Amino acid sequence: FHTIIEPFRIHSVEPIRMTTREERIAALEAAGFNLFRLKSEDVAIDLLTDSGTGAMSRDQWAGIQRGDESYAGSPSWYRFEAAVKHLFPFKHVIPTHQGRAAERILFSQLGGEGKTVPNNTHFDTTRANVEFTGARAIDLVIAEGQDPTSEHPFKGNMDLGALELVLSTEHVPVVFMTVTNNAGGGQPVSLENLRGVRALCDRFGVPLFLDACRFAENAYFIKHREPGQSERTITDIVREMASYADGMTMSAKKDPMANIGGWLALNDDRLAERCKTMLILTGGFTTYGGLAGRDLEAIAQGLEEVVQEEYLRYRICSTAYLGDALADVGVPIVRPIGGHAVFLDARQLLPHIDPLEYPGQALAVALYREGGIRSCEIGTIMFGRRPDGTEVPAAMDLVRLAIPRRTYTQSQLDYVVEVVGHVAEHADELRGYAITQEPPQLRHFTATFAEL
Ligand code: F0G
Repeated sequence: FHTIIEPFRIHSVEPIRMTTREERIAALEAAGFNLFRLKSEDVAIDLLTDSGTGAMSRDQWAGIQRGDESYAGSPSWYRFEAAVKHLFPFKHVIPTHQGRAAERILFSQLGGEGKTVPNNTHFDTTRANVEFTGARAIDLVIAEGQDPTSEHPFKGNMDLGALELVLSTEHVPVVFMTVTNNAGGGQPVSLENLRGVRALCDRFGVPLFLDACRFAENAYFIKHREPGQSERTITDIVREMASYADGMTMSAKKDPMANIGGWLALNDDRLAERCKTMLILTGGFTTYGGLAGRDLEAIAQGLEEVVQEEYLRYRICSTAYLGDALADVGVPIVRPIGGHAVFLDARQLLPHIDPLEYPGQALAVALYREGGIRSCEIGTIMFGRRPDGTEVPAAMDLVRLAIPRRTYTQSQLDYVVEVVGHVAEHADELRGYAITQEPPQLRHFTATFAEL
């Protein structure tokens, strides 16, 4: 049989409150047309992010009950540490309250004026944490990774020639690889490319770190797309990915399927000691790092569940189901379909809206107004403001429909297809936006807008 079913059944449910179009228009105005400023109860299908929004399993909830809240050396910490090291055998594991806390600690030690941090593509908080230290964050993804129509199987790969040039001309304290490449469309990185990056890092004596939020989805793509990988287990592939790196930053709110948490892991003893001191200063003691013991249990259990083949098949195929259905009704999407999200190509759908009038925002607002669907602009609003204050169009203007793990059903995704298809049919009626107020950094979270 070729119907792929959810490898779970529903155990407790949350009500969804339906709103009218008039209520949504009022909510948009009150929010300054920024979807981050909406009340989530006014959202029917929330595809803002796959971060911390997944459904936990029965066994994760059991872990919550088992959580041991000892300040130091709790059994929950040891279970967490073992679960992390099983997949990522780095010497030091430093728990943090989420991914950006790990980034902040690491870049406080490795960043600074005059330095350059290359990444396939920095996510927004990663870029901001690099730039906050005075260092430069640059994105060196392969050219295909910036072409929404390219069918390259590993569009998250690093451009090795560009990386070599940067390594030979600039002061690089660390090279990062984001797996999967979130900002570029949830696109995977191949083992071959990781080996190539590793070889360059070895030649220039620079450490390589993974931003590994969606490592299991990346490993699934490797298994199914990279020659010679199809017979391996996901765990085995993940461990090979880890073997090329000197450390990692991690958000446990993504693939580990927890609602909160993260970690920094690394091999370098001296750097680890400095990072642990920063953790104690700002997060908490080294065996809880700003988390409760119960959170550590939920993460440990989630790490066991996410590498299961059945789960990943359902996960990747349900994202593809949404993307294929949208393509069938004529909506331009980033190809191939990524792991955690479907990315709509707003620049292509709305050619009459200039990138500096934010076609992604226009589309995202319309999806909420027409159908109560919350999505996220990943384009010029998120990436267009440079540290020197100038504004340039981002490489792409995308709208991300991020799919929370194990949360929405197939009929709910069918509804999303219907709404997006309806908005796309009326695309020429949409208008651009102007920003009425914005902070100096990370403006997409809090800026307000007016329709032009
Ligand atoms: N790195 C990547 C690739 C991410 O996608 C995120 C978060 C982070 C780091 C930071 O982790 O949220 O735990 O502090 N991405 C979320 C998203 C917020 O919606 O894609 P965090």
